[in-house]
Amino acid sequence: MGYVTLSQVTKRFGGVTAVDRLDVEVDQGECLAMLGPSGCGKTTTLRMVAGFEDIDEGEIRVGDRVLSSKRGNYYLPPEKRNFGMVFQAFAVWPHLTVLENVAFPLRIRRLPAAEIEQRTREALTHTNLLGVAHSRPDDLSGGGKQRVALARALAIRPDVMLLDEPLSSLDPHFREEMRFEIKDLQRRFGFSILYVTHDQSEAMALSDRILVMRAGVVQQVGAPTEVYRNPANRFVFAFVGLSSFLRVRLGEGGPAVDGADLPAGLCPPLPAELSGAPQAVLATRPSEVDFVAEGGLRGVVRRRSYLGEMVDYQVEVGGQDVRVQKTRHEPGPAPGEACGLLLRAARWYAADESD
Ligand SMILES: Nc1ncnc2c1ncn2[C@@H]1O[C@H](COP(=O)(O)OP(=O)(O)O)[C@@H](O)[C@H]1O
Ligand SMILES: [Mg+2]
Repeated sequence: MGYVTLSQVTKRFGGVTAVDRLDVEVDQGECLAMLGPSGCGKTTTLRMVAGFEDIDEGEIRVGDRVLSSKRGNYYLPPEKRNFGMVFQAFAVWPHLTVLENVAFPLRIRRLPAAEIEQRTREALTHTNLLGVAHSRPDDLSGGGKQRVALARALAIRPDVMLLDEPLSSLDPHFREEMRFEIKDLQRRFGFSILYVTHDQSEAMALSDRILVMRAGVVQQVGAPTEVYRNPANRFVFAFVGLSSFLRVRLGEGGPAVDGADLPAGLCPPLPAELSGAPQAVLATRPSEVDFVAEGGLRGVVRRRSYLGEMVDYQVEVGGQDVRVQKTRHEPGPAPGEACGLLLRAARWYAADESD
């Protein structure tokens, strides 16, 4: 059974359903990433778990404790939920020192002075802030400020850490470093993490499971590799990992791409639910397309970009783009050259309004 459990949790703002009957469980010591585009309901979900936002339907529990329950008409205020929180904005108090920032929530909780001292010291040690304990947060870098927020969350010895895009305002270099630090702290202290992000690589790197959300509705929950390899739908395919979508006409003579040959046997069999549809899209990952000299789906290389180890090709196929990525050690065509593409792991999806 899950440790943090959300059952049928719904939140509306006027006519907008920000979160729609959300069911999810986070296990003890697990890191669950909530991933989705801006406005899909991630922050609202986190705020409901934290207790800053009441719920319109459903129930939220931790262990056997109810935190929010619509049916039971029950709501536990945030300060009674033992959660640590870190937000995107550097929410530290500028007029307090680093040490005072970390100790503050413990003072609010009226812990004994010796305990406050010990916990603060411990949190500062684990976040490498002991050396700047008497500085003001404004004297620290963005990464340093976020570390203060993390230390403050850590000091309350939370059951669960609620992290809302905590790294998105940091430089890429700090971002990666802090990812490791967060994972490290989690291993050491064993808390659960509910981690909100719109960055799929962050979700993949940090989490044990990813929940993909769109417009308040869960699309898929699974291990990062599962979500990447077996996306539940086109939205998940597009949101997790790189993708290209090729518009394909489905007619009497079989699948066809306007302006390019689509050799028989190149595409996977059409799923039953698409038979009879006038068109569909063929979805590919850049890493799952190979170049061939003869045959294949014919196109012309429009752009070639070097991304360090990888080379990224934009290939025009009958007026549409297909991306291909190869390592820099693999031979590939030059810009302007004609080439053939083999689709190693293409998938069919229904066409939508944007196609
Ligand atoms: N306090 C609020 N009042 C009205 N609408 C809100 C409020 N908070 C969030 N929303 C709306 O709820 C939806 C989800 O927002 P949010 O949870 O912030 O998304 P995310 O964190 O995924 O970007 C959006 O449509 C947003 O405009
Ligand atoms: Mg948000």
